[in-house]
Amino acid sequence: MQSFTEVTGVAAPLLRTNVDTDVIIPINRLIGAERGALGRWAFEAWRYAPDGSEDPDFVLNRDRYRDARILVAEENFGCGSSREAAVWSLADFGLHCVIAPSFGDIFRANCFQNGVLPVRLDRAEVQRLAAEIERAEAPVLTVDLRDRTIRTPEGRTLSFTIEDDRRDALLQGLDEIGMTLKYETDIAAFQTRNAEARPWVHRPGGSDRPARLLLLAGDGVGPEVMAEVRRVVEWFAAHRDLKLDLREELFGIAAWKTHGHLMRAETWAEILEADAILFGAIGSPDYDAIPPEHRKVDYLLRMRRELDLFINLRPIRMLPALSGASTLRPEVIAGCDMLIVRELTGGIYFGEPRGIRTLEDGRRRGTNTLVYSSDEIARIARAAFQLARGRQGRLCSVDKANVLETGALWRDVVKTIGAEEFPDVELSHLYVDNAAMQLVRAPRQFDVIVTENLFGDILSDCAAMVAGSLGMLPSASLSAPDDQGRRHALYEPIHGSAPDIAGKGIVNPLGAILSFALCLRHSLGLPQEAERLETAVTNAIAGGARTADIAGPGEPGLSTIAMGSAVLVELEKLG
Ligand code: IPM
Ligand code: MG
Repeated sequence: MQSFTEVTGVAAPLLRTNVDTDVIIPINRLIGAERGALGRWAFEAWRYAPDGSEDPDFVLNRDRYRDARILVAEENFGCGSSREAAVWSLADFGLHCVIAPSFGDIFRANCFQNGVLPVRLDRAEVQRLAAEIERAEAPVLTVDLRDRTIRTPEGRTLSFTIEDDRRDALLQGLDEIGMTLKYETDIAAFQTRNAEARPWVHRPGGSDRPARLLLLAGDGVGPEVMAEVRRVVEWFAAHRDLKLDLREELFGIAAWKTHGHLMRAETWAEILEADAILFGAIGSPDYDAIPPEHRKVDYLLRMRRELDLFINLRPIRMLPALSGASTLRPEVIAGCDMLIVRELTGGIYFGEPRGIRTLEDGRRRGTNTLVYSSDEIARIARAAFQLARGRQGRLCSVDKANVLETGALWRDVVKTIGAEEFPDVELSHLYVDNAAMQLVRAPRQFDVIVTENLFGDILSDCAAMVAGSLGMLPSASLSAPDDQGRRHALYEPIHGSAPDIAGKGIVNPLGAILSFALCLRHSLGLPQEAERLETAVTNAIAGGARTADIAGPGEPGLSTIAMGSAVLVELEKLG
């Protein structure tokens, strides 16, 4: 498109109201006609008599207006159908500017897409201008878009207003596509960020391929809670049109007993292929009976590390019906809703050197290494900032910068990323000891907390008291998406294997069920279904369903299965 800065030329007065686009260019002239050759047919019905001869009285046929480049028109010019060819025909005729008190909306928008300037002037001013043109010896106007003025034949200067973005686009000769392309780099950056935040949207063929879910019940209470998760998953598959390829593998002691291996190659292959893993728990006294060479690997930690699940989300919400289950006072925890973002693949959990060795004098020395590099800190910080943006926009970074070098580095990297990339997020910093105190003193102050691996482990158990019980808390562990938008994900309740109550059928399955809600949100791209499940859990609790961990003193607790059923009843009610 050509740019428009100013036009100086003959202006023709065409003072008729409601000139519609069919008058500007009749529809029958559009069949087979080409853009660039429509000028001949502009205002056809007015310019030509039925025999094809020109009507000498029509303004554009008068000698003084034959070469008009500007049209001075009346109210509602270009009304009627949304024919873009109306603007083309004017431009082909040589008209590059139309001055009128008002325009048809679509006609006016089309002008901007085709380098024609529509100028709005007050009606009285238009009539005055038309009269001046008629009496002028040379009916010539200058319309200057740069300073938004019109110079009249008698030397007057009129000003007009126009939207800044429209003016800029015309001055640069850019239509809407051209304007959009100016932001190509920003758009590409947005797409990359969006692909990271919502990989399922970008996954090729994503919605048609059933999502591959792998259930690993594991040890302790794992099998009991995962049996309830399975019922919930199957309810969603049956009632909510969720296409799933659901698989299950033995994990932990059960795998040892059946296969003689804690992790067989087939299971690891399933883990690598899964879109999401629903995990129960790991840990049992039975590991003591396994030969040390078989149990030296902790397979939960191996999954976290090898699948690069560095983002660990631990949302903690206080449900009003459970305010009595917490040892914290109800007014302290009321309305609490926070998200702990724990770095999960670095720090002291994985740092080298590590081990226990016997010194020459017979003493034994244990070593672990707390190590973080700036890129590890940066990527978890970015994830947390992004999550804070989607919530209340407040991020608290927790470290031990007053003592540890890793803490000082942590704070420095988080600060820089905040200032450079997320100035809209309110960032604060706490030392971990103070953070632990603040979590029980005034937990409502927190929106999103980001912290390193070990601190996140400790603080999330501490914050659990806000929700009344560790049994209520879900978690999600996510990797970054690869270039196909595919990311690894593992969902597990926070409570662990709880060997003391394993096999009794009394464990609370809600942490595991709510972990599946996180899976619906973060891996399956179904935030509304996630909310449906979270609402069903809230309603079950509000309706009085309680396992022993959240029951009042002397109140009998429901069994694990009965709690699962209570959630299913609520899901049925929600439909
Ligand atoms: C957790 C657990 C694990 C951890 C254990 C089971 C290894 O406590 O997920 O919080 O320390 O990370
Ligand atoms: Mg823990």
